[in-house]
Amino acid sequence: MIVVLLGPPGAGKGTQCKRVADRYGLVHLSSGDILRAERAAGSELGEKAQSYMDSGGLVPDDVIIEMMVGAMKQAEDSCLLDGFPRTVVQGEQLDKALEQSGGKVDAVINLGIADEIITNRMTGRRSCTKCGAVYHIENLKPKVEGICDNDGEVLVQREDDKAEVVANRLKIYYEQTAAVVDYYKNAGKVVFDIDAGGDIEDVTVAIVKSIDGLSATEAVSG
Ligand code: AP5
Repeated sequence: MIVVLLGPPGAGKGTQCKRVADRYGLVHLSSGDILRAERAAGSELGEKAQSYMDSGGLVPDDVIIEMMVGAMKQAEDSCLLDGFPRTVVQGEQLDKALEQSGGKVDAVINLGIADEIITNRMTGRRSCTKCGAVYHIENLKPKVEGICDNDGEVLVQREDDKAEVVANRLKIYYEQTAAVVDYYKNAGKVVFDIDAGGDIEDVTVAIVKSIDGLSATEAVSG
């Protein structure tokens, strides 16, 4: 099964994917996490992506498509996609690649949220560079301030979570990514619109309900 999780930056895509991927035996594939790992490893891909990411812009489509289609093959097309596709071109190219391998996107979950909440979530986010765990200075605090619960690493603020970059990421979302929702709706895909402004647990419950409903429908239709 392939499920795409869409939503503006800071909507909670990563937080929710970590909570639901295992439940359905899906591999959580986050394009942002993969790019950050490439940067940390000092790879050519990481270097290529650096300036786009730090300014809040999008990494070029061809780079992302190659990276994500490769990662999906390794996950044997059983994955929860987080942050990809992020442009209509990426959506089209993903569909083409899946057509060739006999796969398809089974469902799309679209997290909707107000801009004011997004800004608070992103500027308050703190991340562990070692295990990737994500916290928030008010909403999801670690046991010891500034320290990761899992491995004791010092938590950091992502460069692109600084207020000036957040504004650009939001602008880019509306200009280039919001259209991906309509791309899927027009293609007749099942799209679940979920209010992501509530508590983390409430959003998880809504996502689980949607995916469970999808599995039940597929079982009935054969
Ligand atoms: P990426 O890492 O994908 O960034 P993003 O989509 O902007 O998403 P975020 O990781 O910022 O947010 P999220 O929705 O996962 O929220 P989270 O769960 O962490 O991409 C980074 C960059 O890489 C891009 O800008 C681009 O340059 C490049 N890139 C990546 N993919 C690309 C692509 N396909 N094409 C081109 N370029 C690409 O939550 C945020 C905070 O809120 C956390 O602190 C969390 O604890 C808190 N929180 C979450 N949910 C709740 C809740 N319900 N209530 C209260 N707090 C909450």
